[in-house]
Amino acid sequence: MQTQVITANVKKNIELAADCLLKGGLVAFPTETVYGLGADATSREAVSGIFTAKGRPAADPIIVHLDSTDMLPSVASEVPEAARQLADTFWPGPLTLILPKAAAIPDIVTSNLPTVAVRMPRNETALALIRAAGVPVAAPSANSFGRPSPTCARHVIDDLDGKIDLVLDGGPTPVGIESTILDMTTTPPVILRPGGISRESLASVLGEVSILATSEHEDLRAPGQMKQHYAPKALVLLFAGRNRQKVIAAMRDRAIELARSAKTGIMVPQEEVSQFNGLSENVITVSTGALTDPEETARGLFSTLRELDKKGVSHILTIAPAKEGIGLALFDRLYKSAGSRIITVDG
Ligand code: TXA
Ligand code: MG
Repeated sequence: MQTQVITANVKKNIELAADCLLKGGLVAFPTETVYGLGADATSREAVSGIFTAKGRPAADPIIVHLDSTDMLPSVASEVPEAARQLADTFWPGPLTLILPKAAAIPDIVTSNLPTVAVRMPRNETALALIRAAGVPVAAPSANSFGRPSPTCARHVIDDLDGKIDLVLDGGPTPVGIESTILDMTTTPPVILRPGGISRESLASVLGEVSILATSEHEDLRAPGQMKQHYAPKALVLLFAGRNRQKVIAAMRDRAIELARSAKTGIMVPQEEVSQFNGLSENVITVSTGALTDPEETARGLFSTLRELDKKGVSHILTIAPAKEGIGLALFDRLYKSAGSRIITVDG
């Protein structure tokens, strides 16, 4: 199969892409979070193509994307008042709600679960595409299974060239990490995956929201949320500790040791980059943005991981962010890309 990349800025291209979806094709498109790999959510056949293209296990259910809440009844059989309220507040936006599934959605989409994940993305291209197709669009992140999610069209091509029909290129995605997944079928609602909408924002609407903690001690329960996920080819080493200087010193020591035999990547906030200067020719240090701007870090996270992979580093050393606001989602992605291992530096 030949994969075509077309600009999202042309109306005709949106129509072309919608047509492709309705014929059972696979179309990658931008959302505000990451690029999605879309198929007609009402077609079993089309959705099965997503699993093949990504190499995704059948037990990993897919999020269904809508262009308006009018489509909600065709996807979810029941929408509790609290879910309506969240949709009113955060849609379009990076919040996915888990609701009871409607019959029109084939079981393959939800991996046979009685529930379905739904969201309305805050991206004009995505909304125009769904509107033009007139069907809900099932779309996981448009990466090969287990790899960091794609935040630009290039990343999609790097993973899926020749395996999908079309890529709608709408430039880099502004949020950079995936949506927050909130299970609305339990009381109180539970965050299954932290993401673009913070726990604090959800709590301001819901009052109570519990979290399936992404800590060293607990596993995420969301199906498909494997321990090793979002992973570059390099081994990620995630450092943490109360004393920042001691953590940095430990990272420097480890980098010097690793750099004796292989290229080693360092990913730290802008303010700390200089502390890794001159360690070795084999050490490549990249900034994750300003320490005070976790949104910027989120925007660049996956592309930085991919960039370091391209430079051929064997390890990537990085620091655990504070688990507040979008920092919780950042921590989750880094923790998983590190295969759920953390190096704690005492002191
Ligand atoms: O921002 C996003 O959410 C992006 C964009 C493209 O919308 N999508 C995304 O999809 O991250 P994906 O497939 O990479 O991750 C979706 C995750 C699944 O791995 C699964 O854990 C969870 O959503 N999920 C889907 N349906 C579910 C369900 N019925 N119950 C619980 N978890 C579900
Ligand atoms: Mg994904």
